[in-house]
Amino acid sequence: MTFVPTAAASLLAVTLVFAFLTRKRRRNALPLPPGPRPLPFIGNALDMPSKEMRTAFKEMNQKYGDIVYLDALGQPMIIVGSHEVAVDLLEKRSSNYSDRAPSAMIDMHVFLLPHRFGWAFTVHRYGQEWRRNRRAMHQYFNANAVAQYAASQKLEAHRLARRMIDDPEHFRQHIRRFFGSSALRISHGIEVDDDPVDYLKIAEEAMDIFSTAFEPGKHLVEVLPWLARMPSWFPGAGVKRDGEVWRPIVYKMVSVPWDAAMENMRRGTAVPSMVKGLMERMREDDGPDEEEVIKNASAVTFAGGSDTTFSTMQTFFMAMTMYPEVQRKAQDELMAVVGPHRLPDKDDEPSLPYIQAITKECIRWRSVVPLSVPHRSLEDDEYKGYFIPKGSIIITNISAFSHDPRIYPNPDPFSPERFLKDGEIDPTVQDPAAIAFGYGRRVCPGKHFAETSLFIVIATVLHTLSVSPVVGPDGQPIMPSGEMTHGLLSSVPFCGHR
Ligand code: HEM
Repeated sequence: MTFVPTAAASLLAVTLVFAFLTRKRRRNALPLPPGPRPLPFIGNALDMPSKEMRTAFKEMNQKYGDIVYLDALGQPMIIVGSHEVAVDLLEKRSSNYSDRAPSAMIDMHVFLLPHRFGWAFTVHRYGQEWRRNRRAMHQYFNANAVAQYAASQKLEAHRLARRMIDDPEHFRQHIRRFFGSSALRISHGIEVDDDPVDYLKIAEEAMDIFSTAFEPGKHLVEVLPWLARMPSWFPGAGVKRDGEVWRPIVYKMVSVPWDAAMENMRRGTAVPSMVKGLMERMREDDGPDEEEVIKNASAVTFAGGSDTTFSTMQTFFMAMTMYPEVQRKAQDELMAVVGPHRLPDKDDEPSLPYIQAITKECIRWRSVVPLSVPHRSLEDDEYKGYFIPKGSIIITNISAFSHDPRIYPNPDPFSPERFLKDGEIDPTVQDPAAIAFGYGRRVCPGKHFAETSLFIVIATVLHTLSVSPVVGPDGQPIMPSGEMTHGLLSSVPFCGHR
């Protein structure tokens, strides 16, 4: 019996031999970073953690070193285990490491409006469209622009204090309102208090979906995009069903505030905002899609500004119930500097080092974006003698870096003192903001806004109230566990109302 190879079989054979030879040559030249041993065909698929990812990745880094390689069914992944390596790759080589992975979620139209831009530029590929969105947001959130919001934040902080005193039971709602309304005023010029629409609920629901959908490594469809073409009963394709439910909820977050802002502009009642400013400056030669850029960038501002800072504040409340002596020291400082007759404001910041240190420690102690948003490399690279293939997904374990004893000795307790020396902020201690807000060209554009908002809210709460744990039916305080939820965004699973 003789075999006559078909053209397809010959092509396949040639491709396999070519792939083998080129892989061999590349491997011979430089090794891949260390990591768990891959299995034939499936690589490290079985090593991919399905939950507790931050801990599993941390353990891998402890075992194999600060740079670990995983082959997730053919998708190269680099697990970065230290802040230093993250800076080396994502900042010093940012032109290569600023892409995001193509997302099946986006292809499945969960995060896509019926036009060619996905609205969440957080997940945009590196390129012109991402740049235009980012530039639009930067104009309103760079350090100088943020300084101009101090007066409105002060007003908002006063309203917050009033609500907290009148109705302490619902303190979480009041805090959420502070961040959501500050962001929505800047992005769309909408006053939450004067509007019957529950914009904050809309944002909360959309961000829950965003967090679930983009949790790094959670959905197989992101690694095997062909699953998106399978029926939803097919194993791993069930997320398509979720997508149908998610899409209108996510879309509401873009369209509802946008329609309101457009209506205000038509009526001539619009107050200054990102939408108004950018729409007025839109030039004819900007092209028809410029309006879409403005629509998307403002929605992302509202979305990003609402949930992340709110989660950090939950960390603050948890820490204050667990560490009452920190709270006492902070209140002593506020009483000495601000006094009993007024509320703290931005200008007090240099005189309140202990409050500054608490803000830093809240950002460090519990990461609200624990694995950041993964970056992706555009070209083959070499780092410390290892080969990093083009198209690698780069995971930065922010929660592990923030607890790295090489940077923060004795990292587990909540200790603002770690940032202080002789009663002043110690400039030699690594600022946790340089870790928590990500790296390089993708670094969080809301960073300055988040930091100033957190400072003013923390100072206001501590100057007007005392935080204590909920008391159970047996009269005993119910202490929070210190645990955080899982997802792209992480928060405190709260155990009470106060
Ligand atoms: C405590 C508060 C916050 C934390 C910890 C945080 C953290 C992060 C992190 C880790 C990233 C990914 C960075 C990377 O890829 O390297 C990110 C991206 C982003 N954040 Fe934040 N963020 C916070 C607040 C905000 C606020 C207030 C806004 C909006 C006003 C915002 C808007 C964004 C946007 C739009 C991106 C995507 C940037 C891009 O892909 O180019 N964030 N943030």
